Amino acid sequence: MFASQLTRKIRTFTRSLTSTCRHSNIRRFSTMETSGEVITCKAAVARGPGEPLVVEEIKVDPPKKMEVRMKVLYSSICHTDIDIWKGTNEAQRAFPRILGHEAAGIIESVGEGVTDLKKGDHVIPIFNGECGNCVYCKSEKTNLCETLRVNPMKSVMVNDGKCRFSTMDGKPIYHFLNTSTFTEYTVIDAGCAAKIDPDASLKKMSLLSCCISTGVGAAWNCANVQAGSTVAIFGLGALGLAVAEGSRVRGASTIIGVDINSEKFIKDFINPKDLGTPVHEKIREMTGGGVDYSFECAGNVDVLRESFLSTHDGWGSTVLLGIHPNPRMLPLHPMELFDGRKIIGTVFGDFKGKSQLPHLAQQCINGVLNLDEFITHELPFEKINEAFQLLLDGKSLRCVLKF
Ligand code: APR
Ligand code: ZN
Repeated sequence: MFASQLTRKIRTFTRSLTSTCRHSNIRRFSTMETSGEVITCKAAVARGPGEPLVVEEIKVDPPKKMEVRMKVLYSSICHTDIDIWKGTNEAQRAFPRILGHEAAGIIESVGEGVTDLKKGDHVIPIFNGECGNCVYCKSEKTNLCETLRVNPMKSVMVNDGKCRFSTMDGKPIYHFLNTSTFTEYTVIDAGCAAKIDPDASLKKMSLLSCCISTGVGAAWNCANVQAGSTVAIFGLGALGLAVAEGSRVRGASTIIGVDINSEKFIKDFINPKDLGTPVHEKIREMTGGGVDYSFECAGNVDVLRESFLSTHDGWGSTVLLGIHPNPRMLPLHPMELFDGRKIIGTVFGDFKGKSQLPHLAQQCINGVLNLDEFITHELPFEKINEAFQLLLDGKSLRCVLKF
């Protein structure tokens, strides 16, 4: 049932050409004054690797200098939350922790020195923030920031090295990826909040926090997909399908999807399990020597190698988007780069989050990008463990939690 529904949704999704973002009802912001107070609210706390999240009451401190406190209204789950929750990479383990980084909400209060955001603003949290003042932020060559760049090791606020979350008996709860969105209220750096048009559907906009920006940006900013070109996407979760959507908008003539889950197919689909030969051979055969661009969206180094070899020699580019929690190194011989195939990595699709996201949001509102089919499920926040399971089982693209 789920499987066929998902297949149908993905089919419709890849066929549909344009559509506008529908506006959902925006819930009224509470008029109760909480600014400066400690807020008690519900959060889903990850207490240990792989343990079910515990929905419990926690305390959230007011924002300090250059921080904001945000009321989360929608949060979805990305595979990176699952990787960290599982604790695959020992170095990234910090528990208890509030995970979650794909969300949208409303500013509840702002800390000292914040002038570009105010109570009531609609915002998207950005895990790869932008302070606006450092040498990186001032450069057009990068979207990394000296202090607010993505860092899965970081679990406290930069201001004072402390947590803004605590248990009811006063023990600290760690932050995650500059965002921590599996909670009714979160505190983030002002440089990690992008203000968006209040008319936009916050439910859909939550996807811009990670998968849509990363996938679309990989196609537009990183690969710079050209009209009439050929594309192969490895891993057809929301991230991979966002690359497909970005490539469609750019006018790619062929988009080949590769996934081991046959429910996730797009028009030109390859399941490596059905082939007797390596995927790259099949792709080279289908495209007269290889695709112009390939994208690794599965977080698997063997897949990365297949992806790399599936591009055309002389000019092929492979973009790495998947997060690889496994400590294995790149599976390439240096001389293989002499065949003219490039390999590039991207964080957040090379978008400067705070300054460029409002425009991307506008493109969704105007129907340039179609986000309609990415949300396959919606559940109340309390059912977060069910939502995790849906993604783990490959049954959802995005399950949005409603607070
Ligand atoms: N070959 C092809 N596809 C694969 C393989 C493989 N060996 N392994 C997994 N996949 C597919 C899965 O079947 C799934 O459809 O990759 C897709 C990943 O999608 P999601 O789990 O929905 O993840 P998403 O939120 O899109 O994010 C992609 O997943 O593991 C990660 O870290 C990786 O950042 C990457 C993220
Ligand atoms: Zn993510």
